[in-house]
Amino acid sequence: MVAAASGSSATRDGWSSRSAFILAAIGAAVGLGNVWRFPTLAGESGGGAFVIFYIGCVFLLGLPLVLSEIFIGRAGQTDAVGSIKKVAQDSGASERWSIFGGIGALAAWLILSFYSVVAGWVLYYVGVMGWDLLQAIGAGDPLRGALAGESKDVIEGRMGDLFASPSLLLVMHFAFMGLTLFIVARGIGSGIEKAATWLMPAFFVLLVGITIYGAFVGDMGQAVRFLFTPDWSKLPPAVMNSALGQALFSLSLGVAGLITYGSYIHEGSKLGSTSAAIAVADTSVALIAGLMIFPIVYAVGLDPAAGPTLVFQTLPFAFQTMPGGALIGFLFFVLILVAAITSSISLLEVPTAYGIGERGWSRHKSALIFGGGAFVIGIACLLGYNVWSDVRPLGFWSLFENTDILDTVDGFTGKVMLPIGALLTSLFIGWKADSRMVQEVTGLTGGMFVVWRFLIAWLCPIAVTIILITGLFPSILGS
Ligand code: PFF
Repeated sequence: MVAAASGSSATRDGWSSRSAFILAAIGAAVGLGNVWRFPTLAGESGGGAFVIFYIGCVFLLGLPLVLSEIFIGRAGQTDAVGSIKKVAQDSGASERWSIFGGIGALAAWLILSFYSVVAGWVLYYVGVMGWDLLQAIGAGDPLRGALAGESKDVIEGRMGDLFASPSLLLVMHFAFMGLTLFIVARGIGSGIEKAATWLMPAFFVLLVGITIYGAFVGDMGQAVRFLFTPDWSKLPPAVMNSALGQALFSLSLGVAGLITYGSYIHEGSKLGSTSAAIAVADTSVALIAGLMIFPIVYAVGLDPAAGPTLVFQTLPFAFQTMPGGALIGFLFFVLILVAAITSSISLLEVPTAYGIGERGWSRHKSALIFGGGAFVIGIACLLGYNVWSDVRPLGFWSLFENTDILDTVDGFTGKVMLPIGALLTSLFIGWKADSRMVQEVTGLTGGMFVVWRFLIAWLCPIAVTIILITGLFPSILGS
């Protein structure tokens, strides 16, 4: 079965080695989800309980799903829909299961639309901080604090100015989406793999460097207490739902991203350790990002629950008061930008592979159609901050009553589509896929296989269903 599947791969682009795949998959997983969304949610949800529940979701539910998605791609050797069909055929199951590949591709595409808008904000701040650094260098004081002489109102107002300007938001969104499109159009080996090989090491150096800086100039003790001391009263179903959604989002699950990336692995079968490496790396980066950001937030008495503007509005002010803040502030936003690019290329790759595999389009055409489409939806998201600020796309649903366009696309994909994708993946792999084939392709045997099987067939479907339903309809629990 496996040999037949890989037979068709001779002409298909692929990763040059196992480590190239791991690096690219970590690049896909590590993104705005780790350095922007995780600290934002952890801050808003009160820290410890959210973080611990999130870690539980990653290893008990996320890791088995990572392995399942990579398995489907590795066995299918084509886009998500085609790969699921292939595994279904070989297992004697209905091809209709491939619907979750389609839902996943749609979710990836929707996520890309707002992801690019947020990455556009990052790009803008790279410009602001870069310009400030140049001025500091010009003034012969490269190690001064950021944005010297600007009042807190001016610094915080910068984000308001950006949001009030559709054209500025549009230019940034356009530039970021253009870069993503350019890399994806070049393909796996010379586009995505090359980008990950250069950018991920740079990312890790910056992450560790800025965290060490934060430990010196910030309040690490308070940050650790905030992130790791649980107050379980701060874990209502809605918070559990967003922690699960965050675990799925951060590991790029439920959107067929790892099915797609897994399909470019043509040989080798140590998928268990590969999956563990991805989950551990992604979670470590999220936690380190927390330990990078919160000491700085606390040091200057800022509010950890500031919400989505935390890293944009709050941190530049913190960098003002710190030695070397101009340089570190600039590097901080470069770091986020690097993380965002390696993830956005994977988001575009999912629908692009679908266009190539299921519609027979060329890579260029497919990337252009889906990248262009996501760009247009992104325009609606960015207009939601100014001319369409009153629009509430799902306002009839109490969960999204007061939610603007971008947050609606984010919330709906994260809280609804990803859990549904994860649920269908676990049901398909846990109950329909041929066990012998799974063992053969993943290389998982003995006790490890039994544990994984239990998690994917029982724990994942039950836990995801409960968290999904109670999170979306809190009235069930009377809260
Ligand atoms: N995992 C990415 C992040 O944490 O930013 C987001 C993401 C990328 C989700 C790719 C889904 C995906 F397919």
